[in-house]
Amino acid sequence: MYLNRCDEDLLMSNFIENTLCDILKNIGNGKSQITIIGVGSGEGNHDLEMISQLSLKHPRVLLDYKVVEPSGQQLQHFRETVARTSNLEHVKFTWNQMSTSEFEEQWRRTNVPEKADFIHMVQMMYFVEDPAAVIGFFHGLLNKNGKLLIVQASSENIVIRAMKAVHGQLSQIEGFSFLSAADIKRVLDVGGVTYQSYELQTDIDVTECFSEGDENGELLLDFLTSVQDFSKKASPELRAEVLRLLRDPQRSVEREGRVLVNSSAEALVVDASH
Ligand SMILES: C[S@@+](CC[C@H](N)C(=O)[O-])C[C@H]1O[C@@H](n2cnc3c(N)ncnc32)[C@H](O)[C@@H]1O
Repeated sequence: MYLNRCDEDLLMSNFIENTLCDILKNIGNGKSQITIIGVGSGEGNHDLEMISQLSLKHPRVLLDYKVVEPSGQQLQHFRETVARTSNLEHVKFTWNQMSTSEFEEQWRRTNVPEKADFIHMVQMMYFVEDPAAVIGFFHGLLNKNGKLLIVQASSENIVIRAMKAVHGQLSQIEGFSFLSAADIKRVLDVGGVTYQSYELQTDIDVTECFSEGDENGELLLDFLTSVQDFSKKASPELRAEVLRLLRDPQRSVEREGRVLVNSSAEALVVDASH
């Protein structure tokens, strides 16, 4: 429902096709094989778009593609999509069903630890315990001219704001950090690394959330707050507070009878240290 009501996927696809492809043209230093790590790839839809852009920029180059994803179900969906997709003969996938910290442990145990040319973490930094350590570890894996891509919601994004509003009142959202792109930039600034930032500005249509009992609106509210059956569980005051956020004049607009609220993200492209 969320993805149906906003342009997040489209925006990300456009970013990959129009911006990221140029950023990645110099990775690999002319080698015949490029190593990529997808961290928290989920079902891998964006990974496949990145692979297709990389293949255009680096024709005849082998892609050594490692996926780090703790959810077996998501990983399975990703593998099934790969099996159905043609023109992936030049990609060698390695499936690591594990968290970033388990991957780090495994990496430290290997005798000849490998480096990578491109690493991405798309909408996943909310779930790690120590973001600075995770960024530090993966950034340290980059080869010369390598790039690390981090995509994270902006602090104005309604998902972050709605989840924060209910957190502690109605739910304890376990293992979710509410980290925004601004927080990630602070981590990068403290680490003294250089990066470029690209705004992925978009709104989500939340009109249906204002019709109490509307099935789509209730599902959307559940997603935005991360609480199943939010309207049933929330006090009238809390529900009213969340609806106020959805109509916050600084972050929302009403256009042709629709209520659109900020659901922007930022893409941070971090350079290797060398
Ligand atoms: C919001 S999804 C994003 C999926 C995908 N990158 C995308 O943008 O469509 C977050 C993903 O991070 C994964 N994840 C959660 N905790 C993680 C961890 N500690 N290490 C690696 N991935 C993690 C989840 O299983 C999930 O697939």
